[in-house]
Amino acid sequence: MLFISAMAKIRSATDALIEHAAQILRDGGLVAFPTETVYGLGAHACDEDAVAKIFTAKGRPSFNPLIVHVAHMDQAAELVEMDSRAKTIATHFWPGPITLVLPQKQGNGIAGNVSAGLPTLAVRIPAHEVARKLLSKAAIPVAAPSANKSGNLSPTRPTHVAEGLGDAVDVILAAGACDVGVESSVLDLSTDVPTLLRPGGITREMIADALGCDVALLDMDAIKDETDGQPKSPGMLLKHYAPKIPVRLNAVDVEPGEALLAFGSLKFMGIKGGGRASDLPDSAIRNLSESQDLHEAASNLFAMMRALDLNAHKAIAVMNIPDHGIGCAINDRLRRAAAG
Ligand code: TXA
Ligand code: MG
Repeated sequence: MLFISAMAKIRSATDALIEHAAQILRDGGLVAFPTETVYGLGAHACDEDAVAKIFTAKGRPSFNPLIVHVAHMDQAAELVEMDSRAKTIATHFWPGPITLVLPQKQGNGIAGNVSAGLPTLAVRIPAHEVARKLLSKAAIPVAAPSANKSGNLSPTRPTHVAEGLGDAVDVILAAGACDVGVESSVLDLSTDVPTLLRPGGITREMIADALGCDVALLDMDAIKDETDGQPKSPGMLLKHYAPKIPVRLNAVDVEPGEALLAFGSLKFMGIKGGGRASDLPDSAIRNLSESQDLHEAASNLFAMMRALDLNAHKAIAVMNIPDHGIGCAINDRLRRAAAG
């Protein structure tokens, strides 16, 4: 019964419903909405109680700050100090799948629990039409993490949101599958050296090209050792994107009992002890992209991992994914899944 009521929260994102959802946000409620990356769980970013509902619904530790979503550049400029680098990135890639971490402006009205007490704030203008309409209508900054339980796979379909958080949200604005499929790149511009805290839809190469300088990559091992003060990107410390069953990377064959997350041709994939991967039952195999298109693979990643995450499988074996372009973001999520 619970499950049915959760699914009933899914409603097609008509203009009338978006208008209604904008009012729910202004009134302090929770709205799940599509973005080009993943579905977000939104709340009024200036309303501390509304933001607190996000942390409760997700089971998210309070030290992990949220991204604030706005519709327009001038709204962003009211919240954070946009230096020339920030303006360059914004002009190149907003609206789009990149988040900027910048120094907060004094008295910007953002509730303290959004940024977990940090002096910086993460801001992004999403590109998805429904997200843009919702943010325009609401005319407030909207704090929104991915609409999944903390640590679980991110949602790229309305049903994923309902499965994890359906009972906690007031409404799920449904608009099909997310295009990009992995979360936004998080770029820290609060320091002298631009640092990519999370690889995502906009690649490190694209950012470096736009800025005309090198972009550092957050060193996971370095932050794990960090014991003094605040960690640089609190969210990156956590076990993330984990299915319930183990994940085995760079598989060159399939072990009996494993499911296969493939990339490209299956011609040379065998099952240990005999048999071909192409003979696996439908329930035990998904191909991220038969044509080895990394964008298609990113878009399929979370939905296909969910589909294979069955107790009937011993583990998910994942074929090698090239580590360039958006492949870096895919591999980042897969490594976290395997570590979990
Ligand atoms: O694509 C996305 O970014 C999606 C959609 C809904 O916009 N949102 C999303 O939010 O992925 P979330 O909460 O799942 O991830 C936000 C990441 C976390 O790793 C968090 O630690 C980091 O951004 N973050 C947020 N504010 C930060 C800050 N002030 N400094 C450093 N990292 C920050
Ligand atoms: Mg998340």
